[in-house]
Amino acid sequence: MRTETAKPVRLCDYAPTPYAIETVDLDVTLHPTATTVVAIIAFARRDGVEAGTPLALDGDGLTLKALAVDGGEIGEDAYEASADRLVLKVPPRGPFTLTITTEISPETNTALMGLYRSSGTYCTQCEAEGFRRITYFLDRPDVLAVYTTRITAPKADAPVLLANGNLIESGDLDDGRHFAVWHDPFPKPSYLFAMVAGDLGSVRDTFTTVSGREVDLRIYVEKGNEPRCAYAMDSLKRSMRWDEETFGREYDLDIFMIVAVSDFNMGAMENKGLNVFNDRYILADPETATDQDYANIEGVIAHEYFHNWSGNRVTCRDWFQLCLKEGLTVFRDQEFSSDQRSRAVKRISDVRVLKSHQFPEDAGPLAHPVRPDTYHEINNFYTATVYEKGAEVVRMLKTVVGDADFRKGMDLYFSRHDGEAVTIEDFLAAFAETSGLDLTQFALWYAQSGTPAITVGVSHDAAKHSFTMEIEQSCPPTPGQAEKKPMHIPLRFGLIGSDGAPLTFGDVSGAALRKDAATGDTVLHLTDARHTVVFEDVADRPVPSLLRGFSAPVRLVTNQTRDDMAFLSRNDTDPFNRWQAVQTLAMDALVAATATVRNGDEPTFEATLIDALGTIAADPALEPAFRALCLQMPTESDVARELGEDVDPDAIFQARTALKGAIATRLAETMAMLARDGEAGPYSPDAAAAGERALRNAALDYCLIADPHTLGARLMARVKTADNMTDRLSALTSLVLAGTDEADEALDAFYGRFEANPLVVDKWLSVQAMAPFPATLMKVRALTQHARFSFANPNRVRSLVGAFATGNATQFNRSDGAGFAFVADVVLKLDRRNPQVAARLLSAFRSWRSLEAVRRTKAEQELRRIAGTDSLSSDVRDIVERSLK
Ligand code: TRP
Ligand code: ZN
Repeated sequence: MRTETAKPVRLCDYAPTPYAIETVDLDVTLHPTATTVVAIIAFARRDGVEAGTPLALDGDGLTLKALAVDGGEIGEDAYEASADRLVLKVPPRGPFTLTITTEISPETNTALMGLYRSSGTYCTQCEAEGFRRITYFLDRPDVLAVYTTRITAPKADAPVLLANGNLIESGDLDDGRHFAVWHDPFPKPSYLFAMVAGDLGSVRDTFTTVSGREVDLRIYVEKGNEPRCAYAMDSLKRSMRWDEETFGREYDLDIFMIVAVSDFNMGAMENKGLNVFNDRYILADPETATDQDYANIEGVIAHEYFHNWSGNRVTCRDWFQLCLKEGLTVFRDQEFSSDQRSRAVKRISDVRVLKSHQFPEDAGPLAHPVRPDTYHEINNFYTATVYEKGAEVVRMLKTVVGDADFRKGMDLYFSRHDGEAVTIEDFLAAFAETSGLDLTQFALWYAQSGTPAITVGVSHDAAKHSFTMEIEQSCPPTPGQAEKKPMHIPLRFGLIGSDGAPLTFGDVSGAALRKDAATGDTVLHLTDARHTVVFEDVADRPVPSLLRGFSAPVRLVTNQTRDDMAFLSRNDTDPFNRWQAVQTLAMDALVAATATVRNGDEPTFEATLIDALGTIAADPALEPAFRALCLQMPTESDVARELGEDVDPDAIFQARTALKGAIATRLAETMAMLARDGEAGPYSPDAAAAGERALRNAALDYCLIADPHTLGARLMARVKTADNMTDRLSALTSLVLAGTDEADEALDAFYGRFEANPLVVDKWLSVQAMAPFPATLMKVRALTQHARFSFANPNRVRSLVGAFATGNATQFNRSDGAGFAFVADVVLKLDRRNPQVAARLLSAFRSWRSLEAVRRTKAEQELRRIAGTDSLSSDVRDIVERSLK
């Protein structure tokens, strides 16, 4: 069936199920290809529902083996069963149980949803709609039940048997089999169900909660990987403490378990008491993990742990409310990492991610509101908009209501809705109540898609001693939304005097203005399409620092000059805006240079940007990690996004290469100095040490441009002898992306050392996939045949094909269309095996309409070829049809 004709699910159609589920007793007898699941499900008719109303349960690819009502067999005409549905035509009036027996095949489950096997370990993934691949069920988040899970398996294959909650019974059976029974006292939706069985190693620790309860902590991994769990365990304990201290949230079960598996569709999953992780977010040691890997582990461990309250104890009424748990939990993990590391550096990194992933999504055919109101395939809504923009909306909410009322609102939300499945309206109501504010207009952030633009025209009247900001907001049309209403946009700002000192100002008219207690900044609350804000008694022309800390996820356009930006890069007290000032200068330069390249001329760069960069890079008073971020020029896709249309990725690449060359030449001395500093000392993954490495490696990259001969040898030596993966991979990346003579030897040396470690092989695959040369496509094609590559493993696919499609602008977007054709081939091949991963890969085409005509036509051809293919998954069908709309 072509799913384009299938009806979408709509938010406005929400209705509770006619029956509630009180308890679920699962009895799972594991077998690679014939696992038996006996589910005893206790139903109760909801108030107001007519007796005899049919009960329809969801299934997905199921075979019904037996069915009983209240323990008794029933006639074949009493129900209808198919692979995706089980209907009990006339259920009993009073509470009743269904005993449903299904048989499933984990070994051949390649979609990695439901019960599957990863390197021999049985594991489950049920979010969003995977539980229906295990048994027939009301598989939706507003049906909360208490689960008891009994697992039986041969002891030799699966000595470890895990499920949600507490272990209440276990023992040996005949024939070398054994069993375990787990009970989870907290009612939960089916998407939070999990079980795991296998021959796993483990690491244990304990955590004493604020009220003095001792919690047993365990991380399960493939045997041999136990020593690589230390950082994950440490991150978990710090997360647990932080959530108590910052949000007053205490853990609730006696045991918290994490299992790392190597085949996983996403990052990790917050199943109650039994998180399941992609092993790349657990395993780390200095030899194999980069500083970025350590930071990711810390962030993902925190994210999944924080879900215990924001998602599990208080869950979503329906999948339209996904941002209720994801946006909020991303906000919480960002705050955690800010407190553990550097707040400024974390904020800049988060905004970079937002701009590079969410802004393009919002500007293309896949744009959707933070809370969508319709979908065909929910798997395709685990997006940057729901996660990252969703987190920005929570951050703005905190700015709007203030820190104290934000915390009170969170407390009220958690206490009022504990054990419930709720909506964004319920969430906002808690903050409206604690702050006394009307959040009706603010709620538009959840409903309107697209990135708003704020245009600020500043002018100073020397005679009248007044300073004026003319502010306009607008939001471009997006799919299904031609017209937008003005939003409530918190614009944090400050004025800086010509002496570089913050300017205090007197009366202001034109918009609501509030002091922010935490930062001392002022926040303008924009609520109309236009505001004219006038500051009196301002004798000298000030330089405004606008949108400090990126106080709203908007595109800011101003009439400020390059000199103003250079001034801010030196004088702003807001570190985010110091970074932003450099980025703005660089973006201006790159846009101009791209036009020059397309005219067939050589771009040149004026000193303003490069000198500003040099000043920051050499300033020992600034954090090294911050200086390293400033040295990163806007990416090729950043420039493409800024251009918005008629994008020629080759011209952008050449412009960017020219800019990096100009920086390398003009700042050669500074870079050499930074590259020399502090080589010694044993590796530590802490943020300060990581910042020093980041700065040194950024400088080395520029040094390589300035002096490829000397630096080629020096970086080659680092690839071979560095005592940590951060320095080694950075050197390898510099050599490969710059196309140096040393690249092949460096790649071979790296592979030779790490070929047995799949997560390091991923890095080796990615670096090759991102090389900006015509030969890359052939290389990537060849690597799909490599012994260490497999289409069955999502990490390998993402590292090779995903990195090519999203991290190699010139080669994916080759003007002959061969890059598009290759990725389209992979999407089609993968779709038969793993639709979720295929659909995600396909979304690399999301900006195809902004390409120049030749490339645009080639991309469209490939999208049409996919769209014309029969028997696509609903996942790929949904993405391709929205992309072409
Ligand atoms: N809820 C998970 C998180 O944000 C992510 C998730 C959603 C997921 N669907 C999934 C993970 C499917 C793996 C597979 O942490
Ligand atoms: Zn999440």
